[in-house]
Amino acid sequence: MTITPIVIGNWKMNGLLASTGELAAVASDLASNPASCEVMICPPATLVAGFAAQIDGTVVAIGAQDCHWEPSGAFTGDISAGMIADAGGRAVIVGHSERRAGHGETDTMVNAKAVAAHREQIGAIICIGETEEQRDGGRTLQVLSEQLAGSVPDCATAANSVIAYEPVWAIGTGRTPTSEQIAEAHAHIRQTLSARFGADGDAMRLLYGGSVKPGNAAEIFAIDHVNGGLIGGASLKASDFLAIIRAV
Ligand code: PGA
Repeated sequence: MTITPIVIGNWKMNGLLASTGELAAVASDLASNPASCEVMICPPATLVAGFAAQIDGTVVAIGAQDCHWEPSGAFTGDISAGMIADAGGRAVIVGHSERRAGHGETDTMVNAKAVAAHREQIGAIICIGETEEQRDGGRTLQVLSEQLAGSVPDCATAANSVIAYEPVWAIGTGRTPTSEQIAEAHAHIRQTLSARFGADGDAMRLLYGGSVKPGNAAEIFAIDHVNGGLIGGASLKASDFLAIIRAV
C-alpha cells in the first residue's frame, strides 16, 4: 500500500506576525520544487487565520496545536475545533505530551478533542508516547497500547487522523531513540491500529516526533511504518524545515 507521507511543523509557543517570512520561504521553495510529501505548519492560534490566508492552502496546509472538545461556551482562553476550521485550519494537534503533562490532559479528553475535530471536518493529529521512566521500566508498548485505546476515537479513519509517536524523553532534548526502538514502536502501533480499524488502520499515517533534525531525518523516515514526522524546534527555521521535508 502507498501512503503519502506528511511532515508537520509544530511551532509551539513561538512566532509573531513578523514570522510570515519563514512561512513564505517554505512556501516559495515548495512551489518551485514540489515536495514528495504533504506539508503542514501548526503555528500558535494567533497566527492560524493569517497564515491560512497568506498561504491559501496551496503547498503548505495550516493547522492548530490544540482545541477544546466543546463547540462553544464558557471556556475562557480555549478555542474550538470549529473556530480552527473557520480560521482556515485543516487539522489540530491533540494530546501533545506538553499538554498532557502541563495541563493535565487525559486520554479521555484527548479522545473528545479528536471527536470534536472530526465533527468539524478537520484532521486530528493524535500524539502518544512513553516517558523515560516508562521506557526504563519496560512498559513502552503497554503504554502505547493504552494511549491508542484511550485517545483514538472510534470515528478515526486514515483520512481524518494521523498518529504521532513522540517519546516524551526525546522531545526538545536532542536525544532520539535508536532506529530499532522507533521501528519496534511503529510496528506495534500499526499492528494495534490494523487490528482495530482494518484497512483504515493499515493506511493511517504514523509520524515520528522528537528531536528530528536535518541530520537524522532521512534515517528516521526510512524506518518501516514511519510515514513522516512531527517537527518542533527544527520547524522554526525555513532552511532546516525544508531540509527535513526533502529527506522524505
Ligand atoms: P522537537 O519537538 O522536534 O523540538 O523535539 C517535537 C514535538 O514536540 O512535536
